Amino acid sequence: VTTDETAGEIDHEVADLDLAELGRRRVGWAEANMPVLARIRHRFAKERPLAGLTVGACLHVTAETAALLRALVAGGATVVACASNPLSTQDDVAASLVADDRIAVHALRGEGHDQYYAHIDAVLDAHPDLTMDDGCDLVSRLHLERPGEVGRVLAGTEETTTGVVRLRAMEREGALGYPIVAVNGADTAHLFDNRHGTGQSTLDGLMRATNMLIAGRKVVVAGYGECGKGVASRARGMGASVIVTEVDPLRALEAVMEGFRVLPMAIAAGEGDVFVTATGNKGVITREHLAMMRDGATLANAGHFDVEIDLPALEQLAGGRRRTVRPTLVEFDLSSPAESGESSRRLYLVADGRVVNLGAAEGNPPAVMDLSFASQVLVLEWLIAHRQELEPRVYEVPPEIDAHIAQLKLETMGIEIDALTDSQRAYLASWKLGT
Ligand SMILES: NC(=O)c1ccc[n+]([C@@H]2O[C@H](COP(=O)([O-])OP(=O)(O)OC[C@H]3O[C@@H](n4cnc5c(N)ncnc54)[C@H](O)[C@@H]3O)[C@@H](O)[C@H]2O)c1
Repeated sequence: VTTDETAGEIDHEVADLDLAELGRRRVGWAEANMPVLARIRHRFAKERPLAGLTVGACLHVTAETAALLRALVAGGATVVACASNPLSTQDDVAASLVADDRIAVHALRGEGHDQYYAHIDAVLDAHPDLTMDDGCDLVSRLHLERPGEVGRVLAGTEETTTGVVRLRAMEREGALGYPIVAVNGADTAHLFDNRHGTGQSTLDGLMRATNMLIAGRKVVVAGYGECGKGVASRARGMGASVIVTEVDPLRALEAVMEGFRVLPMAIAAGEGDVFVTATGNKGVITREHLAMMRDGATLANAGHFDVEIDLPALEQLAGGRRRTVRPTLVEFDLSSPAESGESSRRLYLVADGRVVNLGAAEGNPPAVMDLSFASQVLVLEWLIAHRQELEPRVYEVPPEIDAHIAQLKLETMGIEIDALTDSQRAYLASWKLGT
């Protein structure tokens, strides 16, 4: 237990508790832009559906996440949290959560591999009743390192695509020990968070890291899933000419019909000025691709893990000739020693190849995290109410929760929509009425 005057007996490891004031203001701003979550928090404060339960959360420790954790505390939960990425923690927010909300946070921006897992272990040491994961590191660590403790967890949620992929693999192998809801599967999550949130904030990360003009650049987007669609359309909207790479014929066709050029990476690699990977897969940009890139090409990854670009190959090709040119931008010099001047070749890597919108910007905007985090809290409430009926499987978000969140969001935006009349409802349910 780390004890000090501000944090009392809260078990925590954060960069600097003196940053709490700054963090509190940042969280306040996020909360003001998360009206759906605020409504749920007020209800939770009255009804206390999570009373007596400990939630172990492995999430990006950002201002929006702070709003989520505060809603859980309002609902009666004890919360213990760590980061779901070593580079995404906002240290001021982490400090505020400890000092102001008395939440046990174990997260430091830039923490090393061992410290990252030590922080996950600290969450597991609190013996959570419920887990809230973003990428499945908490859940896989629990199942791999502490199989004896799996049985006491009631249920969990998973925030991102990559985490759901890993959970489905666990489910297939019969390894999953308790029910987990794939929050990312909700329409109110992936259609907005992945597309509008990641689309905008990835461009934001690229621009903050480089201060580049997007207009006129050739931007290669690898993966035309929900995230890739957002990145591609935002880059085009800013004047870039966008090339998409895909492995799925349907998604590739969608990109073609949207007017994007679709190429194999082996050709796109020689053409692009900027590369953004958003596949959730590994080895998408390989040594061969890196070797053919143009001088000045900039690489960024929006996928969950830093495995999409072959980073060891990049290091090797540069042979140690790397330097940090801006806070989240590293230059790799790939010129052969004989080359100089015009024939030199330098590649630029944003945020160490880690998730760029969190590593080089502030993650997704609060207005969009309002939706996925509203899902997170409502799903936890649903899991508690239904836990007796659930098996150790991956569940989708119940559609009525999705519809409820969309309705709440529209209300908070002051937007009204039409309602079906009784006769329309009857018409849609009948098969006898034709032309
Ligand atoms: N940065 C963020 O804020 C953020 C937000 C949500 C999701 N994510 C992460 O982004 C990644 C993508 O998420 P998504 O929801 O778009 O997933 P998705 O499954 O909808 O899309 C991924 C796409 O990549 C394609 N793909 C796979 N391998 C490829 C390859 N080698 N080359 C080209 N394309 C390939 C797939 O066919 C698919 O169309 C995941 O890792 C997810 O966890 C990040």
